This record gives sequence, C-alpha cells and structure tokens, in this order.
Amino acid sequence: MEHHRHDVVVVGAGIAGLYAAMKAGESADVGVLSKVYPTRSHSGAAQGGCAAALGNEGNDSWEFHFYDTVRGGDFLGDQDAQELLVKEAIPVMYEMEHLGVPFSRTAEGKIAQRPFGGHFADFGKTAVKRACYAADRSGHAQLHCLYEQSLKQGVRFYNEFFVISLIIEDGTCRGLVALEIRTGVLHAFWARAVMLATGGYARAWRVTSNSHANTGDGLALVAAAGVPLEDMEFVQFHPTGLYPHGILISEAARGEGGYLFNNDGMRFMEKYAKSKMELAPRDVVSRAEQTEIDEGRGIDGGEYLHLDLTHLGEKTILERLPQIHELVVKFAGIDCTKKPIPTQPTAHYSMGGIPTDLDTRVLRDGKKQAVEGLFASGECACVSNHGANRLGTNSTLEAAVFGRRGGMVMARFVKEAGPILPGAERPTREAEEGFEHLCASSGPESAKRIRAELQASMTDNVGIFRTAAKLQKQVALIRDLKARFENVGISDRSRRFNTEITELIELKYMLDFSEVIAVSALAREESRGAHSRNDYPKRDDNQWLRHTLAFREADGSLRLDYKPVVITRFQPEERKY
Ligand code: FUM
Repeated sequence: MEHHRHDVVVVGAGIAGLYAAMKAGESADVGVLSKVYPTRSHSGAAQGGCAAALGNEGNDSWEFHFYDTVRGGDFLGDQDAQELLVKEAIPVMYEMEHLGVPFSRTAEGKIAQRPFGGHFADFGKTAVKRACYAADRSGHAQLHCLYEQSLKQGVRFYNEFFVISLIIEDGTCRGLVALEIRTGVLHAFWARAVMLATGGYARAWRVTSNSHANTGDGLALVAAAGVPLEDMEFVQFHPTGLYPHGILISEAARGEGGYLFNNDGMRFMEKYAKSKMELAPRDVVSRAEQTEIDEGRGIDGGEYLHLDLTHLGEKTILERLPQIHELVVKFAGIDCTKKPIPTQPTAHYSMGGIPTDLDTRVLRDGKKQAVEGLFASGECACVSNHGANRLGTNSTLEAAVFGRRGGMVMARFVKEAGPILPGAERPTREAEEGFEHLCASSGPESAKRIRAELQASMTDNVGIFRTAAKLQKQVALIRDLKARFENVGISDRSRRFNTEITELIELKYMLDFSEVIAVSALAREESRGAHSRNDYPKRDDNQWLRHTLAFREADGSLRLDYKPVVITRFQPEERKY
C-alpha cells in the first residue's frame, strides 16, 4: 500500500469538491481524489443554471428566494441552512463570475437570468428570472472554471481513485483508503480533514438522469462507519427525462417557455397547477406526468409525454438551449426545433444524505456531535437545504455555497488541529483484506444481474407514487439481493482498470443505501414533497414534521430515529401552485 499525507483530502471533484479544494488550498495542502477525471464529474451535466436573487432581470430579493426554497421543500428544510444558502448565493455568484465562469449576459452585460420551476417574486406571487446561466451548459462552465482555479491554487489531483474505506478511530477521521483504478494498487491517505463531496446516487434506478459514477459512494462509506443517513426517503424525479433512458432535458426548456402535452393534445398542467403550469416545482410536475401516464394519457398510451419547444423558434432554441438540441438529435434522432421531445420523469436528485451542521461537519449522532475531521458538502450531504423537494438550480448553488464554506472551515480547522496523526495499522489492514476478499469472488451469482434487478425494482417500487405494499416488497427484495451478493463471482482476475471490481464495490454501496431509502420511506406514513404515499395522501405535520435518521447497527440491521425541523421564519402552510 502506498501512503500519502495532506492537510486536507477532498473526495469528489464536482462543484462542491472543487470549490472546497480551491478555498482550503489558499492556506492548506490539499489533495483531491476523484473516481473520474475531474471535468467528467456529474456537476458538468447540470444544465439550466444556478439560483441567486441578483435581480438582474427584474425585481428579486433573497427573502423571496428563501420563501420559495422553504415552500418548495414542503416545509421540511432547516430554515437556518436555507437562509444561509439564499443569502450567500449572491456573493458566491459574483465570486464565480470573477473567477471566470462564462455566464450568458444581458444586453447591459450583467449575468443573464431565466425563470425556473418553483421560483417566484413577491412571496410566491409573480414570475421571476433567478437562475444564472451559461446557455444550457451552466454546470459544465462552473466545473471547468473551478478545476482551473484549483490547479492554479496548487491542489494535487489523484484522478481515477476510488475510495473503499474511511479511517475513523475514537470519533476522529484520520484519512481513508482508496483504490487507484489504473493500477489496482491501494493507497492510504492520511489527513487532518477529509471532505466527502461524492454527489448523488440515482444510478440505483433504471430510469435516471445521473451519470454512471453516481452510486452514492460517500453515503455508503459513512453509514458503514456508523454515521446515520438523513431523510433518505426523499428522492427527486425530474419531470423531463428523455424517453426511454431518462437523460436530463433541462427545466430551462420550460423556463424558456416550453409546454407539456398529453396524448389528447392538452397542456395537462392546467389540471394540477393552474397558476404556475409547467413552472410548478418538480414534485408537482412529476406527479402530474405520472398520473397522466398511469391513467392512459401518455403519448400513444405509452410511458411518456411531449415537451414541445417548437413555438420558441430555432433562434431561441439554438442560442439558449443548444445542448438540449444536440442531445435530442443524438439520443432520440429528433430535431426539437421541428418536433416535440418524448419525456418522462427520471430519478434525478437526493434531498437526503450525510447529516452535517452549517459548517459542513459530519454529525455522528445526526444531531449535534461531529466526527472530528470529517466534512461533507454538495448532493451527498444533508444540511437540509432542500427539505422534501429541491427547487431546480438550488443544487449547483448548494454545491458552490457549502463547498466554499466547507473549504474555508477546513482551512481554519487544520491550522488549529496540529500535525497529521497516522492512525493504527488495523483499519488499513482491514480495508486491504476486504478488498482482497472481493477480488477473489468466485461464486455463481452475477453482479450485473443483481444490479439490473435493483434498478428495475427501485423504479417500480420506490418511484413517484409509493405504497406500504410496494415498499415492503422492495425491502425484502433488497435483502434478498444482498444475500445473493455474498455469492457473486468475477471473471477478470487482473488488477489494472478492472471495472468488474469497481462495479462490484459500487453495487455493494447501492444495495446498502437503497435499503435505507426503502426502510425510511416505508416508515414515513404521509405524503410530503417528493415522497408520495398513495396510502397516506396527506402531509401530516403533527406526526411527520421531523427528519429521519437511519443508523446501520453493528449487526447490520437498520434503526430509525428522528429529529425536529429548524423553523425560524415561515410556518408550514398549504402548498398551492
Ligand atoms: O433542469 C435542470 O437544468 C436541472 C437543474 C437542477 O437539477 O437544478
């Protein structure tokens, strides 16, 4: 095993990880481990924009953004975190502009802004342009700029390194063990501060907008170390995934004026959100679409609807939505300037994740006590900015605001914390033994088959509409898949770029957190935000205005606990759009 030392080690090179690395790198020695080449991180797939109440294209204020974020999250978000998010959005957006993010511009040369679902002015009353964008390649633009700036800061990158274990001893994180995919060699990284910025997990569904790398690695790693996962039942389905695989068709398409039609040629959102129509929050639009499909009004009776942009005209589409145009040509053979796009809801985003405080410290009891030296930010974390449903463009925003904040907190922390203390030999030896055990897998079960069954069943049973029967079925099925996983076999015995091994580890991670999702969803007997129970159709604030914490016990079982929601300003109210 090779050994490395850095003051700070960041895992993940999306917007959150890179912002953290760049900021910490101003005064600390920083290493970044990324499973993929950094500019291939999934943040690059974020299309529509990054929210901030700059007011460049009409009246706006952080307070309106605050209210929308609270209401959009169906009042489950922690309002201290949400207030921080929307206030810091403004200086962070200007910092990104000054770092060199090539935003689209207004005629006066200001950062251009566009409408997005669930964002309004005047406390929910009027339309607003709040999403700062770079055509429909906004995440790509941010990612590349932050990568360049991190390199400039002297951050050391370990590309195509896959973390297999965290080293946590006596409540302190001392580092981690990672596989260098290119060589098959294990490396130990010793650090004062470790930040997990490993992104989301929607690859556990068959229909998803997520890249192949999004297998919830950070979540599984902390859960294995005894840290709970928070609010995992809240999974966002984006309304416009390209049929049939679910590739993201940005909400910017509706922000720019696109319409959704059913098989009867009706703009069906009239029935579900009369005033906000296609720009209602995502949970509302996805439920409407799924209802249309389930009731037989999908196009030609199928599992998709039409997103029509043709009335926007070729000039607008090619200027504002060039990537959408290209994606639809390449993956569906359709020119969206002339024909509607076949779309369906697609698993997109995890509202829940690793519990943290406002300074990105990971909470080992999910409530107050931090794991010393362990931090998390971006989609894998749950500071609870999004509650039960995230608004579009608040994700790259969260990654930027909390990645940046975490970077600064870690820089201060390592200055005060003293030298890096290598831990005992035991955790690295155990990681090595576990890895060798996996590499020697020779059972009759196929990992590919288990993964396909997991993905299909998560789409069927833990989709937009849920019931106790479906969730119970899924819990039992996942447990069966986990038992079968113990008997998997691999055929490739080499160590260099052995994707059979990396996919096996990813599958283990997916099985672990999917069980947490299904168990947490089964327990929550209400409908709130993205968690819709047909058997409990109403939101129940008396019982369920609280966060779920799921602990993996030493015997492998799951234990659920709960904690209150932080409400500072906006009391729960009925959500109407
Ligand atoms: O629709 C989109 O462009 C996605 C944005 C987001 O998830 O925030």
